[in-house]
Amino acid sequence: MGKLLDPLFLALVLVLSLAPNGAVAQILFQGFNWESWKKEGGWYNFLKGQVSDIANAGVTHVWLPPPSHSVSEQGYMPGRLYDLNVSKYGNQDELKSLISAFHGKGIKCVADIVINHRCADKMDGRGIYCIFEGGTPDDRLDWGPTMICSDDTKYSDGTGHPDTGLGFDAAPDIDHLNLRVQHELSDWMNWLKSDLGFDGWRLDFAKGYSSDIAKIYVDQTTPSFVVAEIWSSLAYGNDGKPAYDQNAHRQELVNWVQTVAGPATAFDFTTKGILQAAVQGELWRMRDSNGKASGMLGWWPEKAVTFIDNHDTGSTQRLWPFPSDKVMQGYVYILTHPGIPSIFYDHLFDWGFKEQISELATIRSRNGIHPGSSLRIIVSDSDLYVAAIDEKIIAKIGPRYDVGKVVPSNFQIVASGNDYCVWEKR
Ligand SMILES: *[C@@H]1O[C@H](CO)[C@@H](O)[C@H](O)[C@H]1NC(C)=O
Repeated sequence: MGKLLDPLFLALVLVLSLAPNGAVAQILFQGFNWESWKKEGGWYNFLKGQVSDIANAGVTHVWLPPPSHSVSEQGYMPGRLYDLNVSKYGNQDELKSLISAFHGKGIKCVADIVINHRCADKMDGRGIYCIFEGGTPDDRLDWGPTMICSDDTKYSDGTGHPDTGLGFDAAPDIDHLNLRVQHELSDWMNWLKSDLGFDGWRLDFAKGYSSDIAKIYVDQTTPSFVVAEIWSSLAYGNDGKPAYDQNAHRQELVNWVQTVAGPATAFDFTTKGILQAAVQGELWRMRDSNGKASGMLGWWPEKAVTFIDNHDTGSTQRLWPFPSDKVMQGYVYILTHPGIPSIFYDHLFDWGFKEQISELATIRSRNGIHPGSSLRIIVSDSDLYVAAIDEKIIAKIGPRYDVGKVVPSNFQIVASGNDYCVWEKR
């Protein structure tokens, strides 16, 4: 037994528990949907009762909804950023307690950071809503029209800088080139870390400000995890279907991550779009012209957060939903492949996939599959996709039942369901 306590032995165990390239396996979980704010008794209190189930699904990071005072119930029209007591999801103490419960299971918490735009509290002399209130007795985040982008003509008084990204119609676009804005938003994010316990950020509408600006916030707040929402339309062909080549789409994601650097990752909207078309009898889409995965995953898997649906694309909004009868095939793909897979609340708890998703996550971790794992695509026909990951597991999706001789006899089935199968090396 003395040997077990030997520091060298412990160091060896630690090294072996990491993936070969030093990357630790990560699974993100989106811990809310578009209707969560309606939960009686509060969402934070409710979710606390599900922490064990979430941990059992192999989750390492949970993405929580925007926590601040907001003009819209879901939190995406924030105003008094320091005020966490009037959120429809619950108050500051309840949020803190939820974060502690996740930390107790070793799960890190990711705050939804909505800083492209911000709702003002009062009107100025012009009768324009542009006087902001921070939610503290002092003047932190108490801003005026000079903190609004000069090209946001609905609210600006012309004294700010031009926007560095896309404009947002429904609320003032914040001037992130203003140094006071940079300092005070960084201070607020650092307060979310120090006082609430948040570990990382999900950057809402990251197309609303430049990647150089995002880098400033990431560098000034040193989160251990960052994922950006960069949601652009795919390229479409004349037939109204996504084009086979989505290189421009994934290049935008790669460029952002490259500029922001450090812990930055991006939601792989390219893979989502291609995969949801592919599972409808077009699985040839899943291999690009160089034999790699066709989403961001094929180019920079360590930085690609793969997902099936979120509160916008799915849930009750259904702005770009994955085909509902193919969702498990989607999870088989993202949970067996490289990248950082993200599980959506609804699929784990409301769609009855808890056992199947947790089983796939167990297979992933048992085989040490990690964001940078190797991918060898064996078949990508219309009705059959087969790939080997790290030569340890083989995943199949698609309706073709007979996979022929592509699965070696030293592999055995460890999970299977409607149009999918996963084998593990004996
Ligand atoms: C919110 O509630 C907490 C705990 O009761 C308190 O410490 C904090 O000051 C409150 N914040 C605001 C903005 O009222």
